[in-house]
Amino acid sequence: MMESFASIRLSAMEFVKKTFASDSSGHDDTHTFRVHALAKRIALAEGADLELVELAALLHDVDDHKLSPETAAGKDRAVGFLRCHGVGYDRIMAIIQIIDQVSFSRNSFPPSTLEGKCVQDADRLDAMGAIGIARTFAYGGSKGRRLHDPQMQDPTASVQHFYDKLLRLKSMMNTETGRQLAAPRHEFLEAFLEEFLREWEEEA
Ligand code: NI
Repeated sequence: MMESFASIRLSAMEFVKKTFASDSSGHDDTHTFRVHALAKRIALAEGADLELVELAALLHDVDDHKLSPETAAGKDRAVGFLRCHGVGYDRIMAIIQIIDQVSFSRNSFPPSTLEGKCVQDADRLDAMGAIGIARTFAYGGSKGRRLHDPQMQDPTASVQHFYDKLLRLKSMMNTETGRQLAAPRHEFLEAFLEEFLREWEEEA
């Protein structure tokens, strides 16, 4: 018999906590929990299948190719978890498809389902605003990267990431709810960058 959804959700949260226990690159369990909460909020507003969205959001990074290259291709951890909790084959396939379509770096096409659009918007929103900024510098620090290269010759500098990704996310939102949530976060990114560059120039 399939477990109740509430019980599966609770187990998924435990699984996420365990999986990301030692992460300090900005992809820790709190990132996943924020994406879960945001995705749920977007899904409710957009009328998406809440259970698919919640499980895909909770499991979206457990097989990330940067964090877990050996399970990334087959999404082994996510599939194993869902099987173990009695989720049906069709639902597992739908969840894996959502996770596959969420990634920024490997997908230039929008997700093919409303549920995928909700999860992708949520993941992108967590890369924006104050938290997005904190995660960008935390990730850069974990890779030994510099904060900023005023000549813009260093493609790995954290400030460069604002131009390569963060500032582009607002226009890439899939849902109306995502667009509404993205607007103030985008404004904050721009304000931060302006002040950062002003201070940098001042002391140069
Ligand atoms: Ni993520």
